[in-house]
Amino acid sequence: MLAVPALEVRRVLPGDMDEVVELEKASFDDPYPRYFLEQLAAAHPDTFLVASTEGEILGYTVVDMWEDHDHLISIAVHSEWRRRGIGRRLLLALDAALGNRRPMRLEVRRSNTEAIQFYLKNGFTKTRTDEGYYQDGEDALIMERA
Ligand SMILES: CC(C)(COP(=O)(O)OP(=O)(O)OC[C@H]1O[C@@H](n2cnc3c(N)ncnc32)[C@H](O)[C@@H]1OP(=O)(O)O)[C@@H](O)C(=O)NCCC(=O)NCCS
Repeated sequence: MLAVPALEVRRVLPGDMDEVVELEKASFDDPYPRYFLEQLAAAHPDTFLVASTEGEILGYTVVDMWEDHDHLISIAVHSEWRRRGIGRRLLLALDAALGNRRPMRLEVRRSNTEAIQFYLKNGFTKTRTDEGYYQDGEDALIMERA
């Protein structure tokens, strides 16, 4: 795995949002809209994290606190920087920020094998399938880490 020079994982700042929105658009066919990401950043500044190097944002992740668990809303790494441990670094930083007290849960498209492999490697297990969860009718796998 190639090392990423001087990677820093830190809380999102208002000035990061343009790059986060671009990364979200580049990473998903159905990206979250800017207003939603800005709401999350305002509501949970401790658990909206970016990975950056030399002033460029290479990845981001955000968690929302639901009643009985922490919900991983999104995680994305710039396509040219994947498989170098940035996603894992983001998850570890989230654990540190959250204190690992509650289960973490997420939905992932059944066809998103790279993300599913990523989550399995990082301790998540598949708990069930939510049929037709996405707007285009694709099923979601629900994955959870205790
Ligand atoms: C999922 C994602 C965030 C992972 O980020 P990353 O920085 O590449 O992850 P890491 O480098 O920490 O982990 C890499 C591990 O994930 C798994 N993985 C990632 N991409 C994979 C691929 N194309 N094929 C198989 N396994 C893959 C492997 O276990 C890999 O370990 P390995 O390289 O030793 O085989 C990144 O692929 C991404 O941004 N995808 C697009 C957005 C997305 O789908 N997000 C999840 C939404 S639910």
